[in-house]
Order: sequence, then structure tokens, then C-alpha cells
Amino acid sequence: MQARSHRALRAALAEMRWLNRPLEWWAKNVAVGAMLNGRELVYQNIVHRDLARLGIDRPIHAVGSAANYSYLYLLIRSCTELPVRRVLELGCGQSTLLLDALAERADFEVVSLEHEAEWAERIGAQCRRARVLEAPLVERRIADRDSPVHDPDVHDGQGVDVLLVDGPQKSKRRSRWGALHWLEGMNSDDFLIIFDDAERRGELDTIEQAVKQLDARGIAYTATRLRSVKTQFVIAGGAMTPAVHF
Ligand SMILES: C[S@@+](CC[C@H](N)C(=O)[O-])C[C@H]1O[C@@H](n2cnc3c(N)ncnc32)[C@H](O)[C@@H]1O
Repeated sequence: MQARSHRALRAALAEMRWLNRPLEWWAKNVAVGAMLNGRELVYQNIVHRDLARLGIDRPIHAVGSAANYSYLYLLIRSCTELPVRRVLELGCGQSTLLLDALAERADFEVVSLEHEAEWAERIGAQCRRARVLEAPLVERRIADRDSPVHDPDVHDGQGVDVLLVDGPQKSKRRSRWGALHWLEGMNSDDFLIIFDDAERRGELDTIEQAVKQLDARGIAYTATRLRSVKTQFVIAGGAMTPAVHF
């Protein structure tokens, strides 16, 4: 659109004045695919720039059921900008490889619980700092529901300040409900909880229960979501609160 007078521009300006807002609203709220894919590309660029800046050259494949780029971005920023000391991850994979490399540079502890023995072995063998522990799923009564949880006898989860929920595999309702078990032992002053796949109904059941539990215990937090091709739900308190602005 190029013109050299108001008269020539009038129709185009009127169209912009009346249509821009509804079209942008539509793209943001109804036909969101293009916007979310665009965001993923932004995160991809940031992640690769940061990996280069940090001198991390191991291959991390952010595709399929693995962590996507917005999740990897959150992990990099959290582990480099926040006072992270103890990370507990549920479900190992590409995120664990990244955490392992970050822990080598910033000196924090990473434990990843994985119920699939072979997968735990495969990822664990590639880690130098992160400990990948095979933890079979056991049935426990959690928040009035029977639910599979990574065997708490394998790891006590005490004093964790970052909890990452990305396993085990999804279920239609109350997905990864076992994550609620690990909330209890967490540092309640400075903490960060990230639920991956938070666009799914099953994960949202669990997220809702998690914030109810924090409310019931009077724990102060701020929550938000990060949307790209997948959604991460972020709950942060104390010194970890800046994460809600990442
Ligand atoms: C969403 S994945 C975990 C993702 C992990 N945080 C990552 O970034 O890759 C959830 C579970 O799927 C299983 N899983 C993921 N990728 C797998 C693979 N390539 N082979 C076998 N199992 C896999 C593991 O049991 C894992 O705990």
C-alpha cells in the first residue's frame, strides 16, 4: 500500500481503523496456530543463541514428545537468572540433557525421576551432573484420588526449589496427578513449579488442584502461562517470582 495524498490513503486508513482490531483479536483468540508457531520460532532463536553463548554444544532435539523450545527457553532463563539450588524433574528426556549442561555451569543439583527403565538408562548415560533415577510408578492416595506416582522410596524430594512436571505419559483426566505428592516437600519460600503440556485438560485438572493446595497452605505465589506450540504453566514464589515475567 503506497500513496501520496490523504485522499488516496483514505479508504486504506478506514479499513485499517475498523478491521485491524477484530482481525488481530481473531488471530490471537480463534485462529491461533500461526501466532503460536511464530512464537516457537522466536524461542528457538533465543535458545540457540543462548546455547552458543553458554558454550553448550550437545544435540538437544526439541521435537515430538520432547520439550519444545518455549520450555527449553524457560529452563535456560530460570537456571541462569534465578537462585536455583535443587531441581526435581518428573519424566526425563531432552530437558534433562539441557539441565545437565546448565548444572555444570551454575552448580545446582538435578534429579530426574523416570519410570521407563530403558529410557532412564539411555538419558542417564548422557548426563554428567544430573542424576536420572529409575522410579517405577506406584499407586498412592493423593488429594482424595488413587494415582500413579514415581516411587517416593527412590527419592525423598525434600528441599526441592524447582519442580518440573513433564512425565509420566498423559492421561485424559487428572494427568500427572502424582506430581501433587512432590509439592509437599518443596521449599515453600523460594520455589518454581513448571507444568509442561498445560494446554491439555488432564494437566489442567492437576494444575488447578496444585494451586488449591498452595492456597490451602497459605503459600504466596504468582502464576502465569507461556504459550507456544505447547503451553507451560508457571507457578513461582519468593526469589523465583521473576520467572512469571520470562
Ligand atoms: C513428555 S516425555 C518427557 C519429556 C522430557 N522432559 C523431555 O524433555 O524430553 C514423557 C515420558 O515419555 C517417555 N518418553 C519420552 N521420549 C521417549 C523416547 N524417545 N523413548 C521412550 N520413551 C520416551 C518417558 O517415559 C518420559 O518420561
